[in-house]
Parts: sequence; structure tokens; C-alpha cells
Amino acid sequence: MSTIRLGDEAPNFTTQSTEGEINFHEWLGDSWGILFSHPADYTPVCTTELGTVAKYKDEFAKRNVKVAALSVDGLESHRGWIHDINETQSTTVNFPIIADEDRKVSTLYDMIHPNSDDKLTVRSVFVIGADKKVKLIITYPASTGRNFDELLRVIDSLQLTAYHKVATPANWNNGDDCVIVPSVKNEEIATLFPKGHTEVKPYLRLTPQPNLN
Ligand code: BEZ
Repeated sequence: MSTIRLGDEAPNFTTQSTEGEINFHEWLGDSWGILFSHPADYTPVCTTELGTVAKYKDEFAKRNVKVAALSVDGLESHRGWIHDINETQSTTVNFPIIADEDRKVSTLYDMIHPNSDDKLTVRSVFVIGADKKVKLIITYPASTGRNFDELLRVIDSLQLTAYHKVATPANWNNGDDCVIVPSVKNEEIATLFPKGHTEVKPYLRLTPQPNLN
């Protein structure tokens, strides 16, 4: 097991998935990525989660994000379960599900928390930037399905920081004002943020969301 922290390079691996063998870094290419684990196939919460992710394909694609799921079940199980997901969630699973029977990837990413369950993966989420660095880590228990709208919201925030030098304040939603990151000097603001800014305090400078017309 390795400890992965924000800013680390996402560990690479080669593994089997429902879309064939994946070398993670090659598969990511220039995209951002989400690697997320679920406890087991043929379980109710996981079924709704994977169906939801399939329906969000366009939202992920808009953000240049590729998604891969993982559990410690095998390929045959994944393939059978995909039929159920498609049927019950009225969708078509359109992303790879990694078959981590040997627990290679789940160990590498510390997705098995033995005091929660010593065999199954918890609901881990890793968001990986186009630079292959880990940008976000969240862990949910097996009993709580994830909020994928929140995941999109965080990706929007991460990409605003990566591409526009802004951070996002508490409860920010797409379209709200953003915070100019502290490393931007006052004399740079006019050039970087032509829509203007408000200085609430010298350390709290707001600007309209830069990537909107
Ligand atoms: C589920 O996916 O429904 C689930 C899995 C493990 C424990 C509880 C719920």
C-alpha cells in the first residue's frame, strides 16, 4: 500500500477492464481522469452509481474527463452486471470497469480500508489532472452513494484554478464569482481579469467567473 496525497503523480498500472487491457497513463492521454471504486458488483447503491455515471458521459466529455470504475470482482461478473445496470438504470455503460481480482490497483490506491471491510473496496474517488497529478481524493462509505453533481462541481473548480488562476469560495456553483488566487499580484489583475474585480480585503479579491461570456 502506498499513501497517495494531493499533488502526487497518480500511480500508473496496467490491468484488465471491460474495455480491454488498460495502461492507466496511456489511457488517460491528455485528458483529466476519474478513478473510482465501488464495493461489489450486483449491489443496489453501486448499480445506481454506475448508471448515473453513464448518463453523465456528455458532462464528463465537455470537461475532457475520462472515467474508470473499479471493484475487486472479475470481468465475467462485471459484464453480467453491466446488463443489469443498463436495464434497470435505462442507460448504456460507456466507460471501463476495472476487474481488480488480485487487488493490485486497489492496494496501490489504498482503496481497501480493513476496519470498514477487509475484502471489499470502499467508495474512493481520485480526480487526476491532465498533468497526471492527483487533484482530489474523497472517500465515502459503502452505504452512501456519491453525488456526481458535486464531482462535476469540483472538477469545474479544479479546472478554473488550473486554467484561469482563480479559486472558488464556499458553496460556489458554476456562474458565481470566483476568488483570485493569492499568488496573483494586484498589478497583474487588470490583464488577467478584464471583467474587473472587487477587493473585499487585500487577501480577498473577487472576479466574475473568467471562462463565461
Ligand atoms: C451497495 O452498493 O448497495 C452496497 C454495497 C455494500 C454495502 C452497502 C451497500
